[in-house]
Amino acid sequence: MYNVKEIHKDLYYVGGSDHRLALFENVYPIDKGVSYNSYLFNGEKTVLMDTVDRSVSGVFFENIEFLLDGRPLDYVVVSHMEPDHSGTLKELLQRYPSVKIIANERTIRMINQFFTLDAEFYVVKDGESLAIGDKIFNFVFAPMVHWPEVMVTYESTTKALFSADAFGTFGALNGGIFADELNFERDFLPEARRYYTNIVGKYGTQVASLLRKALTLDIGIIAPLHGPVWRKNISWIIDKYAKWATYTPEEDAVVIAYSSVYGNTENAVYILAGELNERGVKNIAVYDVSVTHPSFIVSEAFRASHLVFAATTYNAGIFINMENLLNDLAEHNIQNRTVALLENGSWAPTSGGLMRDIFEKQKNITFVGDIVTISSSVSEQTRGEILELAKNITESFPKADVVDHSQKIEQNAIFKLTYGLFVLSAKTDKDNGCIINTVTQVTDNPKRIMIAVNKQNFTHNQILKTGVFNVSVLSNDAVFATFKNFGFQSGKDADKFDGIDVVRSENGLFYLNVGVNAFISAKVITQYDYGTHTVFIADVTEAVTLNSVPSMTYAYYFDHVKPKPQPIEEKKTGYICKICGYIHESDTLPADFICPLCKHGAEDFERL
Ligand code: FEO
Repeated sequence: MYNVKEIHKDLYYVGGSDHRLALFENVYPIDKGVSYNSYLFNGEKTVLMDTVDRSVSGVFFENIEFLLDGRPLDYVVVSHMEPDHSGTLKELLQRYPSVKIIANERTIRMINQFFTLDAEFYVVKDGESLAIGDKIFNFVFAPMVHWPEVMVTYESTTKALFSADAFGTFGALNGGIFADELNFERDFLPEARRYYTNIVGKYGTQVASLLRKALTLDIGIIAPLHGPVWRKNISWIIDKYAKWATYTPEEDAVVIAYSSVYGNTENAVYILAGELNERGVKNIAVYDVSVTHPSFIVSEAFRASHLVFAATTYNAGIFINMENLLNDLAEHNIQNRTVALLENGSWAPTSGGLMRDIFEKQKNITFVGDIVTISSSVSEQTRGEILELAKNITESFPKADVVDHSQKIEQNAIFKLTYGLFVLSAKTDKDNGCIINTVTQVTDNPKRIMIAVNKQNFTHNQILKTGVFNVSVLSNDAVFATFKNFGFQSGKDADKFDGIDVVRSENGLFYLNVGVNAFISAKVITQYDYGTHTVFIADVTEAVTLNSVPSMTYAYYFDHVKPKPQPIEEKKTGYICKICGYIHESDTLPADFICPLCKHGAEDFERL
């Protein structure tokens, strides 16, 4: 019986999940199953986005038949020719003989290697756009994510990115297809990481290149070939991918993998792990390479900053399961890690040096401590060396992950950062603006900027709604009244542009043309929630220089624009905001106090 899910008007999920397969690609255990995703556009024209593995062909064909309801299938896009996605292509052609296959040249060569098909092809080029009915498809080649023929497809009317294996995960879709309706972080993240690292982890450069291309698109939906569909919080999963693709550890953590024949190397490992814990390292995971499948440990190695390997010497080399794991890690280009090694040998220990040889060939590996050698079992002397290794590992950790270091953050050091000052403007049913000091160029091609905006600002919510804003760059001739108008009152209550000399840019928003030397218009492409603030990343759509007066810095504002505090005639008790001068008349200042005028926190107040 069919089991379809609507993703968007005219766009449906038509894939299925398999719990019976024990080993994905006959290598990777998948005790939580796997889904094979396919999507159908059922609008003016009918376009199928990939087929599925043969294990779920029953529900797949019933889904298509149900949705088409007698209409012909016009096109099938083949993004990836691996049989877990194209295994039912031949049967699709038998059922829908008039369907045209959209694919690139490499894919078509592979199709002809796997099948003998009598089919009509439409050959796409990298970057090509193709209008099919009321939908517009853009094809972007993504070689080696995971095979060389892979391409991703962006459909602009639905803002859906069909990402092939990228953003895929192991794990069946048991109760829903949307990541935001599942507990993704708990139930899928470890499997998403294991899928990524083992399937495409070797090709970080290619994945990073795909991410760069993807970030130029206005993505509303990510529809991968395995695992949940993303329609919310897309920047979260993109951020994970950015870390994995650049071999950046996700967490400051220690992963210890060991091999032990009679339990003595295992004993050494638990002494080490216990001492690390005693020294304040909390994020520790220990794996026996003879028990845990290497795909899990490879995945864990991509998560953690610190890796410890403890291996028995076996046949004058590295214990076989450990050697397989280390070769697997090397094959997956593991890099940017801190590594510590322990070896065991009853007469000629060699595994430590051999393990070190493997990691010396990897990029940016930092060895911590000397190789600890165990002669059969842990002696008192070896125990001391293990404790010393734990000390060295702990000392190589960022301090914040070992002890509470919050008291050592000096506010004055933060004030050494240089800032400009800007009027940020947006528009919903009213024009509004606020003062911000955080605008930074992120990339030059495409021109892209970052702004950080306090959530309490009305302008913040306007940008959330509309995704567009202007930045007016304040110059040294800006007057204090501008700061007072845009910084010391809320747009919820005041019409800040009333009586202000402004002009509208091409995006229809106001920018200031007095006390300003340039304006920049931008369109948000992604955003990150950081508690008190949202960081918006945006593409520049217009940027115009207005004059040559230097841009105002925060320091210039304090020295030349902000009025100096007047002597307080009547002695008041309380706290004064160092930013805007607001006085909080009270003997106490709560730690979470926010200035009602300028929205700065308690750290910017001083006692009167
Ligand atoms: Fe899911 Fe590379 O196939």
